[in-house]
Amino acid sequence: MASTANRFSLSLPSVGSSTLKPKAFPGFFLKFENSNPLSLRVNRVAVSVSNGGVMRSARICASAPVIDQSVSEASPRAPTIVDVDLGDRSYPIYIGSGLLDRPELLQRHVHGKRVLVVTNSTVAPLYLDKVVDALTRGNPNVSVESVILPDGEKYKNMETLMKVFDKAIESRLDRRSTFVALGGGVIGDMCGFAAAAFLRGVNFIQIPTTVMAQVDSSVGGKTGINHTLGKNLIGAFYQPQCVLIDTDTLNTLPDRELASGLAEVIKYGLIRDAEFFEWQEKHMPGLLARDPSALAYAIKRSCENKAEVVSLDEKESGLRATLNLGHTFGHAIETGFGYGQWLHGEAVAAGTVMAVDMSYRLGWIDDSIVRRVHSILQQVKLPTAPPQTMTVEMFKSVMAVDKKVADGLLRLILLKGPLGSCVFTGDYDRKALDDTLHAFCKS
Ligand SMILES: NC(=O)c1ccc[n+]([C@@H]2O[C@H](COP(=O)([O-])OP(=O)(O)OC[C@H]3O[C@@H](n4cnc5c(N)ncnc54)[C@H](O)[C@@H]3O)[C@@H](O)[C@H]2O)c1
Ligand SMILES: [Zn+2]
Repeated sequence: MASTANRFSLSLPSVGSSTLKPKAFPGFFLKFENSNPLSLRVNRVAVSVSNGGVMRSARICASAPVIDQSVSEASPRAPTIVDVDLGDRSYPIYIGSGLLDRPELLQRHVHGKRVLVVTNSTVAPLYLDKVVDALTRGNPNVSVESVILPDGEKYKNMETLMKVFDKAIESRLDRRSTFVALGGGVIGDMCGFAAAAFLRGVNFIQIPTTVMAQVDSSVGGKTGINHTLGKNLIGAFYQPQCVLIDTDTLNTLPDRELASGLAEVIKYGLIRDAEFFEWQEKHMPGLLARDPSALAYAIKRSCENKAEVVSLDEKESGLRATLNLGHTFGHAIETGFGYGQWLHGEAVAAGTVMAVDMSYRLGWIDDSIVRRVHSILQQVKLPTAPPQTMTVEMFKSVMAVDKKVADGLLRLILLKGPLGSCVFTGDYDRKALDDTLHAFCKS
């Protein structure tokens, strides 16, 4: 279908409690162009569970086209919006370039007059002023406090969390305050948990600034901190009012962090979206070169997958657990090797290879999937094996306290069937797990 010839007046989807009126965005057009990934809007995604409990690949249906972001130069660009459908706790994810220069997006989700921005010592010098400006421009009634935490996974603990409460209490914030998480997954998880607990719950907005946070941690409401005996063992489910993803923030992200986030992008393809995995195989060079439209598409599609899973299973009674492909092995690496040695996505990448190896040993997938997983992770320069210091015993002792242990049985996310299909199960041959651990560990 010809692209520029087909122009229609704009009808934007509902966002939160308000609906954007077309007249608020003059100059935008809908464009039918199926070759442009940004022109596709996702409706519902069908998930079916087959006989063997296999979660089949989700069908993402491209239907109504969404705004083409390149059409208007004169007006601000309209964000792509992915809705997280959770009844009265539904919220929008705004995705796009330059969104921190759009104060109205943030301000419509701020309740009350007091805001606390939670960020860290790396992100604050880069984006804190911009965010304070976005919160206050044309809005003199709002006052913004900020708390700048030390940077690093090793600070994702109770002591650092207390600094957020100290600041909130010293500033006499009340129940109508809004907490804003500005940073990567560590900040998002901690700020979200603080928002859930402060005065038994205040409003919360996520402004994720890493790929990891933009494609995964900021969406879905899992918040929390680590314990020395395991990652994310203390936390709460707590949904934000909105997630604002300004893709421009990725321009300052170190390469290693970019790659770490891509491990989660790859995960979505493997567990439920074969078409997306195939897209990644073709477009990985663009993603690594930070091509803005490739990144925007990967973020959007990842958020759609995550939003769909979370809408179907918010509290992780089954389906949501599949988002943890590679994470049981990965968490063992993060804990056993010490937080901060390997990035989360690096540990997840090695963990994914181990889960895929085990799936193959069980005869659940064919070797072409094993090869494709190795190949895509190698393209991203992510690890395809755990650190050499990891032993079978280290894996076993950390995995024994994994949150997915039920009645003493360790349930795992394993691939089963064609690309894009997985299971969450404790029903597997223990020998396959032992064989995988011995294949990847020297002792
Ligand atoms: N809640 C969830 O559902 C969920 C899902 C996945 C991961 N997580 C959690 O997320 C955490 C990992 O998140 P992460 O990978 O974002 O790590 P991170 O938050 O430590 O950020 C990585 C590094 O990048 C820096 N940084 C952030 N944004 C930047 C930017 N725009 N420019 C330059 N530097 C920037 C940070 O200061 C940090 O040094 C882990 O704690 C993990 O458990 C949670
Ligand atoms: Zn993860």
